[in-house]
Amino acid sequence: MVFDFHRGRRLRRTPVIRDLIRETTLSANDLMMPYFVYETDDENFKKEVSSMPGQFQLSLKQLEIKVEEAVANGLKSLILFGIPAEKDPAGSQAYAEDGIVQQAVRMLKKRWPELLVCTDVCLCEFTSHGHCGLVKDEIILNDATLELLAKTALSHAKAGADMVAPSDMMDGRVAAIREILDENGFAELPLMSYAVKYASAYYGPFREAAEGAPQFGDRKTYQMDPANAREGLREAAADVIEGADILMVKPAGPYMDIIRQTRDNFDLPVAAYQVSGEYSMIKAAALNGWVDEESVVWESLIGLKRAGADLILTYFTEDVLKRLKEK
Ligand code: PBG
Ligand code: ZN
Repeated sequence: MVFDFHRGRRLRRTPVIRDLIRETTLSANDLMMPYFVYETDDENFKKEVSSMPGQFQLSLKQLEIKVEEAVANGLKSLILFGIPAEKDPAGSQAYAEDGIVQQAVRMLKKRWPELLVCTDVCLCEFTSHGHCGLVKDEIILNDATLELLAKTALSHAKAGADMVAPSDMMDGRVAAIREILDENGFAELPLMSYAVKYASAYYGPFREAAEGAPQFGDRKTYQMDPANAREGLREAAADVIEGADILMVKPAGPYMDIIRQTRDNFDLPVAAYQVSGEYSMIKAAALNGWVDEESVVWESLIGLKRAGADLILTYFTEDVLKRLKEK
């Protein structure tokens, strides 16, 4: 007998041995659920996002009901997006003390002190023009926007947020936010930066969900060109120097190489955001009976962990938690 070939099947013979040698795992600890909270007097407001079956715009009350169920299933962390009743060019509801996100944070932290409540820090859902910064003559202003982003992050911190996550892609925003937080007694509040964020068509469904589509032009002057990888290293390095605690790569699935290079080049935790379009594509195929949803979801998420993500923001969080609990 000659041992002249590799017998990989030896370690695949039974579920037990496969479990024993598995390199990557997925648990409730890894998952963060995004929610869309909608400012309205109608307590019963719960509107399904047509391009994201199973995801909703929720009134404060409906958010509470949804989170209650999720917490019972093991939810540990979430990220909030707000849709204000009124929008204006400066996005003033983003940093209003009684803005919808601030109200939601207070409600959630009061009921579930242990739940990690993270907030998305950006202006696009709050500005009438739908851009992530202030606009003058159709140009998105960088430095003038920083102050408003900092104010927004501080107002979230004051409301009780456990972490802030700037998603705007203005240069210098991590430093601006870190500074205002430190000056106001929030030196210990972690900041998760959307460090390597691409100008992606995969955000399409989110813009319906968050009602934050740009009213003119696109986001290509601030979000990254999908063709660039080395530029991602520069973006991440800048955020590390400015004081980010967690580096996010977004979208996730089409950018696994970027997740891996971020993991290999920095020692901060890496987050991957499986964005709305990634969710919608899996959901659409599953609803058509073309793929098995549970298996494809698991494979898409374990792939992100394998690529180097420490945590994952995904709209499938609630579903996965339910399945983990059943097993
Ligand atoms: C806001 C923001 C966006 C997403 C997260 N924060 C949209 C955008 O930048 O256009 C995308 C999330 C998703 O698609 O699920 N800046
Ligand atoms: Zn934005």
